[in-house]
Amino acid sequence: MDNFWQKLNKPILSMTPMAGITDTAWRQICKMWGADVVFTEFVSADALNYDSKKTLKMLEYHASEQPVVVQIFGRRIDMYPKAAKVVESLGVAGIDINFGCPAKKVAGHGGGICLLRDLDTVKKIVSTTIESVNIPVSVKSRIALNTVQGHPEKGKTTVFDLIETLADLPVASMIIHGRTYETPFTGPVDLENLKKAKLAFKTGTFLINGSFQTIESVAADLKYTQADGIALSRALYGQPWLFKQIRDYLETGTYQEITWPEIKDTAIKHAHLLYQSKGEKGFKEMRKHLLFYVKGRPDASTLRKELVQVENPEQVEKIFKNI
Ligand SMILES: Cc1cc2nc3c(=O)[nH]c(=O)nc-3n(C[C@H](O)[C@H](O)[C@H](O)COP(=O)(O)O)c2cc1C
Repeated sequence: MDNFWQKLNKPILSMTPMAGITDTAWRQICKMWGADVVFTEFVSADALNYDSKKTLKMLEYHASEQPVVVQIFGRRIDMYPKAAKVVESLGVAGIDINFGCPAKKVAGHGGGICLLRDLDTVKKIVSTTIESVNIPVSVKSRIALNTVQGHPEKGKTTVFDLIETLADLPVASMIIHGRTYETPFTGPVDLENLKKAKLAFKTGTFLINGSFQTIESVAADLKYTQADGIALSRALYGQPWLFKQIRDYLETGTYQEITWPEIKDTAIKHAHLLYQSKGEKGFKEMRKHLLFYVKGRPDASTLRKELVQVENPEQVEKIFKNI
């Protein structure tokens, strides 16, 4: 098996899977700016079993994105062998399994983070996936799932329980978001436990995730936790060049500020890639990215009014032409 995770230069700079964000256009842009590995949006293991065309469309990728990892979610063990095989047949570099999603439509049905309440199932999902394919399998989860209010019997499960559960399986990588189920997207990450989890996880690379602050703080967090890498998420909105800036800072102690021509060039490229992959109908999704690209400019509010109406990349070029 080609375990690409082991061949990546450390620290590994990755992005995380993000529903509605990490499509092929965004992944290509992240790759262009130096991401070492990219993730698809999560897709349902059940949908892959039913050969959902919509799901397979979400997994289309360009060769330049490699290594590409497809993230799958679902709570039924029997869905994973076929789902994993379908993913492998696409020629991607790896499979990631979601044990972290707190969203109602996933966790509310016992999937995502709520699977941690049933570690036997977690183990079976991971082992059956590993047995089904010849590409590396990673998992993404959170630091903890605390006692559910009003249901003390459901108890607390931590990343350490997860690591122990998977200890005898060749899990190629673990990406841990340093927040809990209860505070899903706000507040600081638990660096102390991320550091301990890095030490406890023995079978593969360990990536920290959550609450990016500054380029300097990423370097400090990597140093403190001794993690093999970091996976960025919302911080990348409108600034995919963070990969290059972080790499430069880690290697030389300094980095260049991004210039407007570079931002403009990235935004236009992004718009073309998105149009190529999703066509006119899907192009509306570009608008949210464009608003992030112009954030902080003195003329941002005027630009926003125009950018929320764009229908194609040519209109984006026209708006940006004279600025
Ligand atoms: C819009 C959105 C979609 C997300 N989709 C996924 C997903 O599909 N799979 C996943 O593992 N995490 C998903 N996440 C969680 C992120 O990957 C990441 O763990 C989280 O945002 C914390 O990192 P941050 O504080 O740097 O943003 C999503 C987060 C957001 C905001």
